[in-house]
Amino acid sequence: MNFEFTEEQKMIQQAAKDFAERELLHDVIERDAKSEFPADRIKKLAELGFLGMMTDPKYDGGGMDTVSYVLAMEELSKIDSSVAVVMSVCNSLVNWGLETYGTEEQKEKYLKPLARGEKIGAFLLSEPEAGSDATKQRTTAEDKGDYYLVNGTKNWITNANCASTYLVIAQTNPEKGHKGINALIVDKNTPGITLGPHEDKMGMRSSDTHSVMFNDVKVPKANRIGEDGFGFNFAMKTLDGGRIGIASQALGIASGAFERALHYAKERKAFGTEIFNHQAIAFKLADMAVKIENARNLCLKAAWLKDTKQPYGIVSAMAKQYCADIAMEVTTEAVQIHGGYGYVKEYHVERLMREAKLTQIYEGTSEIQKIVISRSLLK
Ligand code: CAA
Repeated sequence: MNFEFTEEQKMIQQAAKDFAERELLHDVIERDAKSEFPADRIKKLAELGFLGMMTDPKYDGGGMDTVSYVLAMEELSKIDSSVAVVMSVCNSLVNWGLETYGTEEQKEKYLKPLARGEKIGAFLLSEPEAGSDATKQRTTAEDKGDYYLVNGTKNWITNANCASTYLVIAQTNPEKGHKGINALIVDKNTPGITLGPHEDKMGMRSSDTHSVMFNDVKVPKANRIGEDGFGFNFAMKTLDGGRIGIASQALGIASGAFERALHYAKERKAFGTEIFNHQAIAFKLADMAVKIENARNLCLKAAWLKDTKQPYGIVSAMAKQYCADIAMEVTTEAVQIHGGYGYVKEYHVERLMREAKLTQIYEGTSEIQKIVISRSLLK
């Protein structure tokens, strides 16, 4: 077993770290306070190739592996998860879904501009009444011969406003249950699509989150992904990889908070010495370091399984659940180590703690991951 990263993987990790420190750190607190989406920084990230980093060069992507993606996601998320999530949705959900299941025509028209970073994608599965219980899709895609007529509402959609290309999951044959669901590629500027207001979230406040309403939206049949009724399966397979992205995001949030807490503990003095010298603090830091190491290993294992074309769904669910849960624990301890300073915005850890909470909720709650893991144990 080889735990060494290749030179290329290290280079990508360093490039993501440099980008985050140079481009994101200086105004991350201000953007969080204002819920301001950093379109200019996303453009730069796209120009560096990060939004299509895992797509095959044949479709104008970077052709990098999932291990590199995990390393880059961790570095960005240490500083700004609202930016990292754009990269995650584009790579893991939208581009991967199109590359793996799209037709050559769909890849030519939709995947290539996404992989080049000229366009941004969004994945529209969640609904007001179908979040965790994703089979209960209320959005309909009525079969009208050579097109589908889409009606309904999607909720909590990341990249809803900045995206040009939507992958929409909708019900065509309700009598068939989840086997009647389709996945459709929809241009965001199609008549009949409207957006709700930007969500005023607790954390990742500058990510672009809206609800999306469909009112008699016509989508050509040629835009369906896979066979009729493949949509739910498509969503589940896509989320298997998406969870590696959010797991590494949670890992980054945890390691970002840990680095800040460690630095603070070495500087801050109380009772005549740096607080690191008090076991109450040192033991907290030791526990945090162990959790982060475990979390990183799980993310990298899931990535390695995916890169070596082995089944990875269960380990990606484990990584998502574990990384999100320890991100919450580690960021809470980072706030505690900072004391009163941890509770104010300047020291970043309160923001990281708010961001950690979202990783336990989106792309499948921690409880959903436990359903996926426990069902695999029964098999
Ligand atoms: N891969 C392939 N197929 C799968 C699958 C997987 N990982 N998981 C389930 N399926 C298939 C099953 O085999 C079954 O197919 P058959 O009937 O043909 O055998 C079918 O899907 C239904 O499966 P289940 O009976 O297990 O369905 P369920 O309703 O009991 O539970 C679930 C499924 C795992 C709970 C699923 O609903 C789920 O993952 N829910 C969470 C959804 C989610 O993650 N939402 C997040 C939205 S995306 C997001 O947040 C993006 C963003 O913007 C950041």
